[in-house]
Amino acid sequence: MIIKGGNIITADGPRPADVIIEGSTITAVSDPDQVPGGEPVVDATGLWVLPGAIDAHTHFGMPLRSGISSLGWRESSEAALLGGTTTIIDFANPAANEPLPEAVTRWRGMADGVILCDYGLHVTVTDVATERLDEIPALVEQGLATFKGFLAYKGRLMLSLVEMKRLMEAVHRAGAMLLVHAEDGEMNAAAEKVLLDTGRTAVSWHPLAHAEESEEKAVAEILDLATTTGCPLTIVHMSLGRSLELLKKARKIQGRDGVLVGEVCLHHLFADSGLYQAGHRASTAAICSPPLRAAGNGTDLLAGLVAGDLDLLSTDHCEFSLAVKTAAAGGGFPSVPNGCGGVGERMVVSHTLAVATGKMDPARWIEACCRRPAELMGLAGRKGQLAAGFDADVVLFDPAASYRWEPLGSSDRAGSLWAGLPVTGRVRDVWLGGRQVVANGMLTLDQPGGKFLPRRL
Ligand code: URP
Ligand code: ZN
Ligand code: ZN
Repeated sequence: MIIKGGNIITADGPRPADVIIEGSTITAVSDPDQVPGGEPVVDATGLWVLPGAIDAHTHFGMPLRSGISSLGWRESSEAALLGGTTTIIDFANPAANEPLPEAVTRWRGMADGVILCDYGLHVTVTDVATERLDEIPALVEQGLATFKGFLAYKGRLMLSLVEMKRLMEAVHRAGAMLLVHAEDGEMNAAAEKVLLDTGRTAVSWHPLAHAEESEEKAVAEILDLATTTGCPLTIVHMSLGRSLELLKKARKIQGRDGVLVGEVCLHHLFADSGLYQAGHRASTAAICSPPLRAAGNGTDLLAGLVAGDLDLLSTDHCEFSLAVKTAAAGGGFPSVPNGCGGVGERMVVSHTLAVATGKMDPARWIEACCRRPAELMGLAGRKGQLAAGFDADVVLFDPAASYRWEPLGSSDRAGSLWAGLPVTGRVRDVWLGGRQVVANGMLTLDQPGGKFLPRRL
């Protein structure tokens, strides 16, 4: 098959080219009209041809406290494909005392045969007993290349700095990378207690239980630990301009030897804490950690992403129906499950608010959403680029389409932060491994076709 007449957008820049696909693989990307005739042709005239996008941070079907789970693997992956994302990296989250390999098997059991897009798993570690840390090297051998630790969520997931150092040493020894949620769990718990003790339980108080100082402290501490241990580190969902400044300083000190990666998520770039105002349509939908921040932070973070000081544009997609979140809010803000959607929105919303506005060039957009996530998360050579030998994950994108955003997929998506936003850009067609999965904006799949991806750094 040949995708002909489009403008391919790669991390090296846009150019007119034809993409030739055989089976599940891209076999050539050629100058226009260099390709042999006789093949089925897809006419991409006037369209952009993008690599299938990669979201390095999602939580599909994630059980949280009180038995509530985020939207499942099927529904979330439907939104992913419709939004031009063909690969996601989710998490295997162990139960208390569960061996990490068993957790991986259990989480793969939830995804395999259900998920529509390709996927990998980061492995969450909340227990740094020697027995657990000794499981890490064999997991790395099996293609689980990245682990996650939390400095937040006291009493549930949080590791102390001493525990985090042990984890970083073990991850580094195994040749893997650590992802860290950098908020100070002690500070957040103390702030939450004061709010609850004084009757301030409405969702509008949520951000006060996640002060900016809490993120700054945790970011500074984890950067210090990364420097001490040499462990490759990704700080996930950075939400503050000041966190970015700390990362830039640490990167300067470490120079080229270190691997310090910054991730920003769609909602921290383009939504702000104004949404928490009492009575706002999206105030409950916007409950997430770290919370939405004052608007200037999004401006700083976007500048950091454009400059390459932040590497990854992800979503932390962890979407609950608005009805579920609203019902939970009756028990006060700590009862509301944390997380926003975004896997379906990322490409169109970031195109609208960054690329179409001229703030970010298309090449950098594709680097942050496709090529860097692949390179940094162990999928180099297979995903994230339009080049011979790569998986035939391809998106046809109409950069000129303009309409109002309607959340994608089959479920109650009224909680989308982006519902009703006037957008520019539309995902028209998507191929996953050479198989068309979206045609003219509609899913064409009948069978789940998502594969687990072993990853190597
Ligand atoms: O609010 C969030 N971020 N929910 C998902 C879990 C996490 O902390 O990444
Ligand atoms: Zn997190
Ligand atoms: Zn997350």
